[in-house]
Amino acid sequence: MQKLVWFNGEVTALENAKVPAADHAHLYGDGLFEGIRIYGSKVFKLDEHLSRLYFGCKFLGYKMEIDQPMLKKTILEVCSQAGIADGYIRLNVTRGTGLGLDPRAVQTTPNVMIMISSLALYSQEMYDTGLNVITTSYRVAPPSTLDQRLKCIGRYAYHILAKEEANQAGAGEGLMLNHEGYVAECTGDNIFIIKDGVLRTPHPSQGLLQGITRDTVIKLAKAAGITVVEDVMTRYDILSADEAFLTGTAAEVIPMISLDQRAIGTGKPGEMTKKIIGLFREETKNGTPFAAMANA
Ligand SMILES: Cc1ncc(COP(=O)(O)O)c(C=O)c1O
Repeated sequence: MQKLVWFNGEVTALENAKVPAADHAHLYGDGLFEGIRIYGSKVFKLDEHLSRLYFGCKFLGYKMEIDQPMLKKTILEVCSQAGIADGYIRLNVTRGTGLGLDPRAVQTTPNVMIMISSLALYSQEMYDTGLNVITTSYRVAPPSTLDQRLKCIGRYAYHILAKEEANQAGAGEGLMLNHEGYVAECTGDNIFIIKDGVLRTPHPSQGLLQGITRDTVIKLAKAAGITVVEDVMTRYDILSADEAFLTGTAAEVIPMISLDQRAIGTGKPGEMTKKIIGLFREETKNGTPFAAMANA
């Protein structure tokens, strides 16, 4: 496997890749990103990631030169070139290059980067035993600022602070509440709880990224006959749940066994969580093969 970066059409080894100093995400955080996994030489949920990205571009008024089918084709080609069976794609789109906050100062079309690399957030042991989570002091921004459904690079500075707080507490993840004190998400993943056999997760209006893994788990659970409710939740709901788990492209599906040093359920990964992890792992086999690029 070769770690590669495709940047506006040019391919370079990751260690030599460069971005323009006046790139608008570098200067102001004015960019979007997607993290996408490759399982068994297939790209998982590629269309879903691209649709979220292109909606973000529309919302932020980025004038994309490369359209969605062409970007899909390019990603599959770069994956094939990297010869990677299992890995992680970091896809970035920024407004373009130009000094000055005013979007009119941007002199180029959006900068597009496809990075092919690898990423493992947690050890296998943590998937087996589950994560301890703390509630961080950082709230997600209210929707009247930057809607958290946008995977905007700029918003991650305070997710990093929240993650640091979780690290300092020795926790595997940090829970973030919204401006009203309701549960939103974790620093890099969505949260689910199970109570009396019902799967519950905060509604997207609560200030969270509507994760692709979240949506996948909801679909898989419904297909398995499990009732799913998207809801308003407090820490009480988490602490009184039977089971909990987190979802994200990087974290995949991982059990959560405590919040703020209080056990959730038995304090061990529960049976429904294990079932959902199994369903998710099976689903990861259904990505887009690199060879599909001819028809993309
Ligand atoms: C803040 C946040 N929430 C949730 C998620 C999970 O989203 P997805 O399943 O699309 O990776 C991520 C993933 O990067 C994230 O950064």
